[in-house]
Amino acid sequence: MANESVSRTFGVAAGVCVVCAVIVAVASVSLKGVQERNKALDKNVNILRAAGLVRPGEKVSSGKVEELFANAKRVVVDLATGEIDEDADPDAVEADKNNVVALAKEDDVASIKTIPQKTVVYLFNDENGRLKTAVLPIVGSGLWSIMRGYLALDGDLTTVAHIVFYDHGETPGLGGEISNPLWTAKWEGKRALDDDGKPIVKVIKGTAAPESSDVDGISGATLTGDGVTKTVSFWLGDKGFGPFLKKYKADNPSENDETGKERR
Ligand SMILES: Cc1cc2nc3c(=O)[nH]c(=O)nc-3n(C[C@H](O)[C@H](O)[C@H](O)COP(=O)(O)O)c2cc1C
Repeated sequence: MANESVSRTFGVAAGVCVVCAVIVAVASVSLKGVQERNKALDKNVNILRAAGLVRPGEKVSSGKVEELFANAKRVVVDLATGEIDEDADPDAVEADKNNVVALAKEDDVASIKTIPQKTVVYLFNDENGRLKTAVLPIVGSGLWSIMRGYLALDGDLTTVAHIVFYDHGETPGLGGEISNPLWTAKWEGKRALDDDGKPIVKVIKGTAAPESSDVDGISGATLTGDGVTKTVSFWLGDKGFGPFLKKYKADNPSENDETGKERR
């Protein structure tokens, strides 16, 4: 066969394709475990950031992550009743594809259509075994995208400890600033709920008064800010973690005092 024949050219191209496909397939299969471990590590680092145990951008080893989780309890919460399901396995709950409930349009403040029936919450205790921070997963619609994050409350379950958005598709420099630690720091110490447990923390246009439950808006990104307000209101409200927060406070009256805030 001549070196420059058409069939030889196609034959070589096909051979290269097969070899490349095999290399990619082998790499993909053999790296799957590493990818999953990295994904789990990334998730745990975001939870620790929300709990205030890892600074934004800080690199932490998997050993350090494990150590920082030593005082944390992963609990399964039934959103409708607010009860902690002690018998449920958090991993099984997170993997369960049937763990979804449709939201009525009027209840769907965060524009997410469905919520889990049961969800995993992270409770971090202080050295005396008292609740220091509760990390709650949150999800809601921004201007362009679904925003996923964690809202952490102090031990009083009323004051914002931290907020972290780890996944969204808002515009970098505009709505994308929701994941900028300089902006999320503005949430810290804000009172999230009033005395009746109603969500009051909100993003406003402009600069917020220091003692208020308002958070400075991001200029040029009012619509994403509105999405964040709706997301936080939904998850702190009756269809989200509202029943859990009320029940936990009622069941643990000693946690529900001003020292919950001081324990931060
Ligand atoms: C290309 C482009 C991307 C934008 N991305 C965002 C965004 O991610 N979040 C947002 O709230 N507004 C975004 N906006 C601006 C909104 O359309 C709207 O003007 C803005 O939210 C109003 O905020 P302001 O009242 O603070 O100006 C974008 C606008 C353009 C042209």
